Amino acid sequence: MKKVIIGLSVTATLFMTNIHANDKGKGIFESKGCVICHKKAMDTIGPSLATIAASYAGREATIIDYLKGDAEPIVDPSRKAVMNPQLAKLETLFDDEIKALAEYIISANDIAAKR
Ligand code: HEC
Repeated sequence: MKKVIIGLSVTATLFMTNIHANDKGKGIFESKGCVICHKKAMDTIGPSLATIAASYAGREATIIDYLKGDAEPIVDPSRKAVMNPQLAKLETLFDDEIKALAEYIISANDIAAKR
């Protein structure tokens, strides 16, 4: 039992270190309710952050245009009617906040892989 607890706390510490660099993006992602439909590794109502990051691999910067409403979706466009109203929640964000949010969404791919 003790071993299990030590193992869990080591995992939690590593996990916290990974996400620490992107606290700001994570905070926005959670406070805007994105987390309800987007889990880290498993597709649920929306595609997982790992799925989104995989679709944007090699063109990471264009996710910023998408989040600003300046680019069409590429992950699952047939379901964009579910996602479109969510984009309205981002209209009041500053550019640096959008950037932090984009970095969080993209980097969650690595977090999922390391877990
Ligand atoms: C009600 C469920 C729901 C919520 C809440 C939600 N999304 Fe989505 N999201 C979806 C669905 C469904 C898709 C797939 C449609 C698509 O790819 O256009 C999607 C797709 C996406 C994509 C991929 C877009 C692409 O290129 O296809 C991103 C990025 C994204 N969401 C970010 C967010 C952010 C940021 C928030 C919080 C402001 C958010 N989502 C809230 C359901 C949701």
